[in-house]
Amino acid sequence: RSEELRRSDERFRLLVEGARDYAMFLLDRGNIITFWSSGAERVFGWTQEEAVGQSGEMIFTAEDRASGAVEREIKTALDEGRAAERRFHLRKDGSRFWADGVLMRLDDQRDRLRGYAKVARDATDQRRIEDELRHARDEMEQRVLERTRDLLTTNAELERTMAQRQQLEKELLEISEREKRRIGEDLHDMVCQELTATALFLRSNAKKLAHDPAAAETLEESAQIVNRNVGLARDLARGLQPADLKGAGLKQALRSLAEQACESTEIKCHFKAHAGVRVTDDIVALHLYRVAQEAVNNAVKHSGAKNILITLDRNKEHVCMSVQDDGKGFFPSRRSKGLGVHIMRYRANALGGQLKIERRRHGGMDITCVIPVVTKR
Ligand SMILES: Nc1ncnc2c1ncn2[C@@H]1O[C@H](COP(=O)(O)OP(=O)(O)OP(=O)(O)O)[C@@H](O)[C@H]1O
Ligand SMILES: [Mg+2]
Repeated sequence: RSEELRRSDERFRLLVEGARDYAMFLLDRGNIITFWSSGAERVFGWTQEEAVGQSGEMIFTAEDRASGAVEREIKTALDEGRAAERRFHLRKDGSRFWADGVLMRLDDQRDRLRGYAKVARDATDQRRIEDELRHARDEMEQRVLERTRDLLTTNAELERTMAQRQQLEKELLEISEREKRRIGEDLHDMVCQELTATALFLRSNAKKLAHDPAAAETLEESAQIVNRNVGLARDLARGLQPADLKGAGLKQALRSLAEQACESTEIKCHFKAHAGVRVTDDIVALHLYRVAQEAVNNAVKHSGAKNILITLDRNKEHVCMSVQDDGKGFFPSRRSKGLGVHIMRYRANALGGQLKIERRRHGGMDITCVIPVVTKR
């Protein structure tokens, strides 16, 4: 048995003394060092003779001693069996190093406290790597933050530019609308009146030429030609003038648009409004009317359709105006020379909405303008 004990003792010594990078030492119940390994000599600098008999406090920094760290470590070891500690410790020469260690409570066979064992190692390198890692992570986070801030700024600028552009387009459309209205008014009030007066003048002169029926007939024919031109100029003025949107409203204006298309062509053009649709905003009404006008004109001019249907609809969020035809259809192209489709898009965008140009399943087109409803402030 004693041989066995000796061998086990030897194995223990080999293990403890061989672990050169690990400081291992024992403390009694009063925190006095009773054993000091050669690893402890290497790590802390005190020889075995110097260390044994000293207080376990000697490896703690002055700050830790003052703040009660020694007692806290012992209490944890007492309460929980072990206290893992990572802190700066002191070497004999007064220098400090980052140590990673554990203090364990040692009990005898009857579970009575015998003292403590401490194992610690110099973890300076590990700490440096951790510091570097933390630093790299902080730097990374900082860069991500800066990048995000840059992106947000750029985004805000972009949004501002877009809003400015939208506003500009709206103003352009309004200017063009005013111009159209002015030309329409001039055409109606000046040209039509002048022409009508001219026709009357020709007619009254024809009456005076009873003695020359041939000349009278020529004048009468001239009067008729002038009257036809009055009709044409009126039609033109009617197209330029916004329909009476303020008075009768968008629905009535779209209905007359359909009627006009029927009058001047063989095409059957209908208007259908969903019950309860009311567009109260003048600008929205005007743009929607202009989109319908262009879409109907296009269907008449280009599609060869027999039927055109204008519809006006709304749900909680949108007003929806569409013009459908049963003609030959087309694929919208960005390079088209025409302005109509572009302007329809502008109008829809100026109202914060969207223009959808779709081919219908059985031929023909469906041009839909979807505008968000803004509740009036
Ligand atoms: N309903 C339609 N059916 C068939 N083709 C169409 C229809 N609407 C437009 N298009 C085609 O798309 C082209 C572009 O239309 P857009 O209104 O932009 O120009 P436009 O009518 O030719 O000229 P503008 O409108 O400037 O007087 C037309 O030239 C036509 O070929
Ligand atoms: Mg057109």
